[in-house]
Amino acid sequence: MKITFYGQNSLAIEVSGKHIIIDPFITGNPLSKDKVDINALQADYILLTHAHMDHVLDAEAIARNTGAVIVSNYEIAMHYQEKGFKVHPMNHGGGWQFDFGHLKYVAAIHSSTFDDGTDGGFPGGFVIEGEHKNIYIAGDTALSMDMKLIPMRTKLDLAVLPIGDNFTMGVDDAIIASDFVECDKVLGVHYNTFGYIEIDSDAAKKKFYDAGKDLMLLDIGASIEL
Ligand code: NI
Ligand code: MN
Repeated sequence: MKITFYGQNSLAIEVSGKHIIIDPFITGNPLSKDKVDINALQADYILLTHAHMDHVLDAEAIARNTGAVIVSNYEIAMHYQEKGFKVHPMNHGGGWQFDFGHLKYVAAIHSSTFDDGTDGGFPGGFVIEGEHKNIYIAGDTALSMDMKLIPMRTKLDLAVLPIGDNFTMGVDDAIIASDFVECDKVLGVHYNTFGYIEIDSDAAKKKFYDAGKDLMLLDIGASIEL
């Protein structure tokens, strides 16, 4: 499983020969827009955690380019289906066996309204059980006791957690989240994109290290192999 970071909560995941894009927000991200060409991205699926602009901005363009299936909660899926896109609707606690692996839409504590006021349902995160590795993408969320449910079903190899604070968990709560999901390997996301979520990266890494955990922070366009 190869995971590439495109800024904010945007990721590309390659698993079982399939290309998945998570929460594409690239053309509007000052840190990403000159480094990533959305027209060059491959996608079989686009997974959207919730309807906020910093998660869905480039979903339509990428879906149009690639014919990818948009996977999200029911409300978000219907929003894109009405616009003519291919969708797969899910809802919280539900899983589906896709050709890339098993995907479950899990709870998040946040909000989820499109910029035009359209209802985006309740926000979520994803648990992907791939061929050999399992990952949790928390999406925008507070620290939540529901995270403890995840390791009851899935042994995680990586947790993708927001660490920018203000709109989501900050570093200290993300360390507790890492305990709750029983995964010490964390990819930090949702930080430094704009003023409210600027963090001290070295201090964040040290806090995780001191807690016996590994916080990875990737440059835009950088990848890790699981
Ligand atoms: Ni959000
Ligand atoms: Mn966000």
